[in-house]
Amino acid sequence: MEAIQNIVEIKTWSALCHRRGRRIGFVPTMGALHEGHLSLVRLAKQFSDHVAVSIFVNPLQFSAQEDLAQYPQDLRSDFALLEELDIDVVFVPNPREIFPPGFQTKVGVSELSKNLCGKFRPHHFEGVATIVLKLFHWVSPDIAVFGQKDYQQCRVIEQMVQDLHLDTSILRGPIVREKDGLAMSSRNRYLNESERECAAHLYRALTLAKHLFEQGERQSDVFIHAVASYIRENMPSGQIQYIQICDALTLEDVVTIHKKCVLAVALFLGKARLIDNIELDP
Ligand code: PAJ
Repeated sequence: MEAIQNIVEIKTWSALCHRRGRRIGFVPTMGALHEGHLSLVRLAKQFSDHVAVSIFVNPLQFSAQEDLAQYPQDLRSDFALLEELDIDVVFVPNPREIFPPGFQTKVGVSELSKNLCGKFRPHHFEGVATIVLKLFHWVSPDIAVFGQKDYQQCRVIEQMVQDLHLDTSILRGPIVREKDGLAMSSRNRYLNESERECAAHLYRALTLAKHLFEQGERQSDVFIHAVASYIRENMPSGQIQYIQICDALTLEDVVTIHKKCVLAVALFLGKARLIDNIELDP
């Protein structure tokens, strides 16, 4: 596994792979890697000849009030985990090179960024799309893998690829969960022991909704009410940010479920902001 830190080198590696007719798979991350990230790397390996993983905590996607300074970083453990998966390149770019002096160009996926997390994190998806576009530009991946855990992020990237005619196919990896159902996240490290135990209720709330759906319920407000009641009862210290049912493609709110939707939840538990979702597909 080769560690690459600068743009010229990653472009040279990518050009060489392509000259040899090889397909590049790419997994962008912010590090503090866990099994969720690693599952995406395995998926990338299945669909490509060479895999690159990037590790970069992207300041553009954090607001001033968010956890950029505390965001967990553990490059040594990240490298060891990636080494085991036998990937080709880990790209750890230098922020000074990524954002040259006077940097001001950003890309936004306007409609898809309006709802859900975008409502509460106004410039977040612009930050994500901008960094992902830059990374794609350097790595030139044939495929790139994103986790369904960040549902809105998946849609934003898919739309950007379509709108800008990028030659990268986007694959989605399913949400990887802890044994008790909690979706893995680098931010779960912020939870103390009792919060960690309580956090499992978020997935139980989604499972409850899934059962309602399987029994034939189709009205969004019924799901939202059931999920909210379950969370209030079982996670009394949780602060719900949103519980919404949205069209799986447009991410607009849906009143009655006629086609594939996503039920998405965001809540604060202690210092951690947890997000999770399930698809409801009639
Ligand atoms: P990060 O939070 O490190 O996540 C990197 C990738 O791992 C994302 O595609 C995310 O959806 C996926 N992922 C995280 N937890 C997962 C889980 N439990 N199961 C499956 N996949 C999971 O998302 C970002 O970084 C950044 O926004 C990035 C795309 C790197 C741009 O800066």
